[in-house]
Amino acid sequence: MPEIISAIHQLRQTLPSGGSDLPVGLVPTMGALHDGHARLIQLARQECGTVVVSIFVNQLQFDRRDDFNGYPRDLDRDVEVAFRQGADIVFAPSTEEVYPQPPVCKIDVGSLGEHLCGRFRPGHFAGVATVVMKLLQIVQPGRAYFGEKDAQQLAIIRRLVADFNVPVAIVGVPTVREPDGLALSSRNRRLNPANRPLALALYRALDTVRQRIASGETDPDVLRALAATEVPTEPSVTLEYLEVVDPSDLQPVARVEGPVLVAGALWVNGVRLIDNVHCE
Ligand code: PAF
Repeated sequence: MPEIISAIHQLRQTLPSGGSDLPVGLVPTMGALHDGHARLIQLARQECGTVVVSIFVNQLQFDRRDDFNGYPRDLDRDVEVAFRQGADIVFAPSTEEVYPQPPVCKIDVGSLGEHLCGRFRPGHFAGVATVVMKLLQIVQPGRAYFGEKDAQQLAIIRRLVADFNVPVAIVGVPTVREPDGLALSSRNRRLNPANRPLALALYRALDTVRQRIASGETDPDVLRALAATEVPTEPSVTLEYLEVVDPSDLQPVARVEGPVLVAGALWVNGVRLIDNVHCE
């Protein structure tokens, strides 16, 4: 019988205490579940004995209060989605449960947070790494599932568990897209019908860069300039960044000479969207 749990001690009592062949799978989320999350939960269901979906809007990772306050919250709907996709437990703690006192010790993500989104969202990845570490300690899963859309987050979490010897397999799951290419995101619900076509500019820009890399372009400045031509010259649309980085250390490359991660962020009428492509 699926369970909704908000207390850490109750979650610990409910989770199997070892001895099972199949691992506990954790799908950490901030709610507003969409088909991208559904994919994570489905995969966890296939691979794990017990599936926990956590729903917690983590204030520590928001660099803007209006973004935190406006983050979509609909627990009843999220619980229904999670159970329909096969979750056994929805762990939905309060802020007081996760942070009974303001945390003094936070995780410094070092140079992994210097570029891409980290350059524009001070403290964001320290907040993500800190809450993910807490969730891993609380749930102690054998496998944890994250979307590749948040490529910088995924790279940081992989490094986090390696650096701290956390015994969990981090599973990256490919981005789920709308038929026209728009990456699914909880923030898409904030786009009105007039903004929706403008949002596609980010995917178009990334796809153009991918094609030019495939046909031999190696200069990141040229690639960035090409990407910019895909962005409409509307006052409501701003390309915050588009960077070409080494996927392992997330540092910008001087030339494309091997696999690269091309990632960007686009503002559309006050909504910030991110996306990326990997080029081999
Ligand atoms: O990707 C998210 O939804 C969040 O950053 C995460 C991993 C649940 C941590 O709050």
